[in-house]
Amino acid sequence: MAIKQSNSFSPRVHAGLSLLFCILLAPVSLATPATAPAALLEVKSGLTDPEGVLSGWSLEADVCSWHGITCLPGEVGIVTGLNLSGYGLSGVIPPAISGLVSVESIDLSSNSLTGPIPPELGVLENLRTLLLFSNSLTGTIPPELGLLKNLKVLRIGDNRLHGEIPPQLGDCSELETLGLAYCQLNGTIPAELGNLKQLQKLALDNNTLTGGIPEQLAGCVSLRFLSVSDNMLQGNIPSFLGSFSDLQSLNLANNQFSGEIPVEIGNLSSLTYLNLLGNSLTGAIPAELNRLGQLQVLDLSMNNISGKVSISPAQLKNLKYLVLSGNLLDGAIPEDLCAGDSSSLLENLFLAGNNLEGGIEALLNCDALQSIDVSNNSFTGVIPPGIDRLPGLVNLALHNNSFTGGLPRQIGNLSNLEILSLFHNGLTGGIPSEIGRLQKLKLLFLYENQMSGTIPDELTNCTSLEEVDFFGNHFHGPIPERIGNLRNLAVLQLRQNDLSGPIPASLGECRSLQALALADNRLTGVLPETFGQLTELSVVTLYNNSLEGPLPESLFQLKNLTVINFSHNRFAGSLVPLLGSTSLAVLALTSNSFSGVIPAVVARSRNMVRLQLGGNRLTGAIPAELGNLTRLSMLDLSLNNLSGDIPAELSSCVELTHLKLDGNSLTGTVPAWLGSLRSLGELDLSWNVFTGGIPPELGNCSGLLKLSLSDNHLTGSIPPEIGRLTSLNVLNLNKNSLTGAIPPSLQQCNKLYELRLSENSLEGPIPPELGQLSELQVILDLSRNRLSGEIPASLGSLVKLERLNLSSNRLDGQIPSSLLQLTSLHRLNLSDNLLSGAVPAGLSSFPAASFVGNELCGAPLPPCGPRSPARRLSGTEVVVIVAGIALVSAVVCVALLYTMLRVWSNWRAVSVSNSDGEESVHGGGGHGGGGGKWGDGKYWKVGSPVSWSAEQKHSSGSETASVLHGKSTEAAAGAGKS
Ligand SMILES: *[C@@H]1O[C@H](CO)[C@@H](O)[C@H](O)[C@H]1NC(C)=O
Ligand SMILES: *[C@@H]1O[C@H](CO)[C@@H](O)[C@H](O)[C@H]1NC(C)=O
Ligand SMILES: *[C@@H]1O[C@H](CO)[C@@H](O)[C@H](O)[C@H]1NC(C)=O
Repeated sequence: MAIKQSNSFSPRVHAGLSLLFCILLAPVSLATPATAPAALLEVKSGLTDPEGVLSGWSLEADVCSWHGITCLPGEVGIVTGLNLSGYGLSGVIPPAISGLVSVESIDLSSNSLTGPIPPELGVLENLRTLLLFSNSLTGTIPPELGLLKNLKVLRIGDNRLHGEIPPQLGDCSELETLGLAYCQLNGTIPAELGNLKQLQKLALDNNTLTGGIPEQLAGCVSLRFLSVSDNMLQGNIPSFLGSFSDLQSLNLANNQFSGEIPVEIGNLSSLTYLNLLGNSLTGAIPAELNRLGQLQVLDLSMNNISGKVSISPAQLKNLKYLVLSGNLLDGAIPEDLCAGDSSSLLENLFLAGNNLEGGIEALLNCDALQSIDVSNNSFTGVIPPGIDRLPGLVNLALHNNSFTGGLPRQIGNLSNLEILSLFHNGLTGGIPSEIGRLQKLKLLFLYENQMSGTIPDELTNCTSLEEVDFFGNHFHGPIPERIGNLRNLAVLQLRQNDLSGPIPASLGECRSLQALALADNRLTGVLPETFGQLTELSVVTLYNNSLEGPLPESLFQLKNLTVINFSHNRFAGSLVPLLGSTSLAVLALTSNSFSGVIPAVVARSRNMVRLQLGGNRLTGAIPAELGNLTRLSMLDLSLNNLSGDIPAELSSCVELTHLKLDGNSLTGTVPAWLGSLRSLGELDLSWNVFTGGIPPELGNCSGLLKLSLSDNHLTGSIPPEIGRLTSLNVLNLNKNSLTGAIPPSLQQCNKLYELRLSENSLEGPIPPELGQLSELQVILDLSRNRLSGEIPASLGSLVKLERLNLSSNRLDGQIPSSLLQLTSLHRLNLSDNLLSGAVPAGLSSFPAASFVGNELCGAPLPPCGPRSPARRLSGTEVVVIVAGIALVSAVVCVALLYTMLRVWSNWRAVSVSNSDGEESVHGGGGHGGGGGKWGDGKYWKVGSPVSWSAEQKHSSGSETASVLHGKSTEAAAGAGKS
């Protein structure tokens, strides 16, 4: 009755209260053994039973016939077993279960039970087996379980139990199996467990246990299976573990154990499984481990173990898995690793990520090998032609070493091969046609080698291929015509080779293709219509080829595209076929011949991060819908024929870091809201027809690195707020109609290395404060203005400056001698001013053209004197001057021609990034190669195709590594849950 009352409460809300009732009143129900059916019905009423397995439980039937109930044979109604494992039961374990006084075995494992383990279980003194594992039980482990003196098997792991392991469990003196793995237990391993003389299996994996392995555990003399992986245990591995003569399995993986592996481990003559992965163990591999004659799995990976590979499968006749990856091992693979008499059972050898060197010939004696991973070492030599002595080979990973020579044709005999990963070595030569015999090959990674020749047609016989990566070799010739045979291909990466010819139409048969990278080759022709069949395609990069023509309309069917990079080709026609997907994150079409307007549907891809349409023939206005692309980081519409205003809607693109609209016919004013784009690093509006003033709000773009407004019709003065752009590297306001004085606040832009204000109507003196721009290097160009006054002596502080152009102003006075400090100066132009006096002697190495059009004298101009020197010209002097003029004119002509070529080539540029070309397209000054100096600076590279594909490359590489690493850990994970 009391129990009934407790059940009338919601167990979830009043769990604590009901527990109290139970504890107080449990003895009442225990007093009468005949209550087993009643207790069971209590249990039933507390559980949700989706499969109805308890539906036959009713007082009308004999309790011993109820589903899941076992009774003592011969007796009436003495319940000894309750087994309801795996029926999807949920609810809380009713404390009424303690009414089953004669029960010996309870199995409620693999259900969805919640709530605590009832402490009342402690009264079931006949209990031998208690299985509650794989539920969602919470709370702590009740110390009352220590009262179960007959308990042999206690498995309560894979729950959400927390708190410490109760030391009272050490009182369960009959315990043989203790499973507490996969919970959230903390604290230390109780020393009391050492009292469990009968304990054979102890599993504490995947908790958050701390401390060391207590020495008292040496008392568990019957241990066969000890597994404490995935905890935070530390200290040395105790040498007493070597005394467990029956120990078969020892798993200490993923803890913080340190020190050396005790030699006593070599005494464990029954050991079949030894896993020390993922600790901080040091020292050498003890030679004593070679005495573990029963050992099948040895995993010492991810430690700091040094010395030689001293494990000898020749002695460890049963060894199947040898995993030593991720240590500091050095030296060569021992010659006698395997005996070569078919006695080795070694199937998996993982030595990746050590400092091993020499060749791998010794491996050929391990006849049974199925997986070899020796990647990320310093191995040298060739891939041995005798590799086909390992006919069972499934996985061969030799990547990130220094192997040389070719891929031997015998590779074609490895008919079980599935993974061949050879990337980042020094391999040369071609792909042997025998590769076509590898019918099971799934993954072929040859990238970053020096391989050459054509891609053999036979490769298209490898119909299991899923990933092919030949990036960064020298393969030439066509992509095999029948590439479409590879129906399972998901990744085709052929970037950076010398492939030519068209993209085969059969490629459209590779219906599983998700990533296609053919960039940086010499491919020609149009995209085949069949491309539209690649409906799984997500990433397609074709940049830097000579592909041409309009895109097939079928491309519009590709709804899964996320990355398109077709930059630097000769594609023409409409962009619309590329806009079928609404998942685009990157659309990069720089330097093609696309025409028509920018379709507004491009804005359906709300996750767009980079939209690069620069260098095409696009016309019309910038669609206001682009303002929907609120994640946009790069917007490059430069070098087209766009017209109209900058739409105000773009102010929603608050994550923009690069906004490039230069080289169009855009009109209207420079919008003040640009000042609210706080992430902006590059703003280029040059070469348009913008009018009005420079908005002072631009001073709020505090991260701005490059600001170019040159070649517009901007008026008014330079706002002093520009001085707040303290990160600015480049400021270019050339060729406008700016008036007023140069604001002295520019001195705060002290990261500037390029400052161009030429061809405006600026007036007043040059602010002496500019002398504080100590990073100025590429150029200071103030030419073609109306600046007056003297050249400030402070400019002599710009010691990094390479070019200084103050020509065509109204500067007067003498040339300050401080300019002699400009030791980096290559070009100097002070011509056409009102300067007077003598050219300082240290500047005489600059040509006369640097100084003409002033009242100056002295080398390189004619010497200073009382009289005008022109009257005393001798005949030879006249000849020299005429010749000089002719020479200068010739140089100027060549320079002009070069500039025009650069302008032209920039529009067509194949690999030159926009910023590299910026100098010659927009620069008013000469071409001293300044662009090259900072071409590898930080901000514009972000958008270059090179860096994008580098990212791609990286992820592809790490996936490979994990393919095999996954296999090794899988292999090593011998222990199950609970
Ligand atoms: C164990 O975790 C509980 C919370 O679940 C915490 O209260 C207790 O202090 C922890 N004990 C140790 C030894 O970390
Ligand atoms: C440990 O268990 C947690 C929860 O079950 C799981 O997320 C985690 O992956 C496990 N760790 C290992 C190494 O198995
Ligand atoms: C493999 O490919 C070659 C050339 O593409 C072809 O001639 C040969 O019949 C193919 N072999 C098999 C077994 O399919």
